[in-house]
Amino acid sequence: MSSVTIVGAQWGDEGKGKIVDWLASRADVVVRFQGGHNAGHTLVIDGEIYKLSLLPSGVVRKKISVIGNGVVVDPQALLKEIARFKEQNIEITPQILKVAENCPLILPSHVALDQAREKARGEKKIGTTGRGIGPAYEDKVARRAIRLCDLTEPETLDWRLDELLTHHNALLASMGEKTFTKAEVVAYLADIGPKVLPFMAHVPELMAEYQAQDKFILFEGAQAIMLDVDHGTYPFVTSSNTVPSQTGVGSGTGPRAGGYILGIAKAYTTRVGEGPFPTELFDDVGKYLGEKGHEFGTITGRARRCGWFDAVLVKRAVQVGGLDGLAIMKLDVLDGLKEVKICIGYELNGQQINRFPYTLEAQKRLKPIYETMPGWDQSTYGIRDRSELPDAANKYITRIEELTGAKVSIISTSPEREDTIMSGDLLV
Ligand code: IMP
Repeated sequence: MSSVTIVGAQWGDEGKGKIVDWLASRADVVVRFQGGHNAGHTLVIDGEIYKLSLLPSGVVRKKISVIGNGVVVDPQALLKEIARFKEQNIEITPQILKVAENCPLILPSHVALDQAREKARGEKKIGTTGRGIGPAYEDKVARRAIRLCDLTEPETLDWRLDELLTHHNALLASMGEKTFTKAEVVAYLADIGPKVLPFMAHVPELMAEYQAQDKFILFEGAQAIMLDVDHGTYPFVTSSNTVPSQTGVGSGTGPRAGGYILGIAKAYTTRVGEGPFPTELFDDVGKYLGEKGHEFGTITGRARRCGWFDAVLVKRAVQVGGLDGLAIMKLDVLDGLKEVKICIGYELNGQQINRFPYTLEAQKRLKPIYETMPGWDQSTYGIRDRSELPDAANKYITRIEELTGAKVSIISTSPEREDTIMSGDLLV
């Protein structure tokens, strides 16, 4: 197996960090292909906690770590993260970190726009991370973005900034927000440019070399399929394509580079931010899942909304993501529940539907239809062999496989790396 792609199969925070780290320890190269510093991965290695946001997880193990052109890069956030790792005795050098020349940059005005827009939306807000991700992607598509390589050509930067700031300032002024002068943005970039440019690399050429050398490449997705700008719960999504098809576009490697595609899902469901969530629980079980699962955001600290496993949505993720297998995380959080439920369809206007509708009012009216299964009293914490799982837990996993159409290749039973049940098809 020369490459593996890992993506979230729900709304993010599925626990990708543990699986990514386990695979990163075997990989030669780790690649980010979308998103930005809105992502949050926590790795625990030998008791030390590492929090990653923009950097690929490979940096912790000093693996070649690539930020592909599909990622929007906030240079200040990048430098801060590098400095944070230095405090933890991990030196991130240009030999390890390669940032694509054509990455669009997130500038302070993108952050201001993101936050001003959310404020203006009021109750209709998306619940973004407020880090400028959406506005940066908008500018990329509108052909207005400043890319990392533009910092090396002052004459290009000059007219590109005029175009960008004319647009940003008009929007900011219309919302009564502070505008940005060209002089202050030029000064900001003059200070930060020399610090980030050493990491700039021609990524497609490097990737071709790694592939020719048969290196094991791990494509590390951020956010999740249900937050994909095309296939997620639009408009309550992030602004990038999070599906595995993005690996090639976002790193310049073509459509076949991704290898085995693993979707990560929790044994239940969580969501941060706004947007539809048919199986959300507002009762004691929801509270129990949140507390036992420590469901608070890595980056923003926000409490995550919790609910039952939604097989309809994960099945869609399997289909649109072309997933080869699923990893089911945090199974142990369900230990001790009398019964567990899986959503198998929805009731809409008195009729049963088996797919998630695209229309927003219909989404609000969905009532989940559940299949109820017996829970289990025994602890699954730390189990490493599927045959040792309580019968009811095993049946729960098998039912997830049947309903989503994907094989469960990995079951995680604790935050520890070794507490993992593996099936034979993902042995690397
Ligand atoms: P944005 O990516 O900051 O524009 O936020 C858009 C939506 O995606 C919001 O609902 C965020 O909470 C959600 N989101 C963005 N990044 C993550 C993540 O890494 N995990 C979970 N949700 C995320």
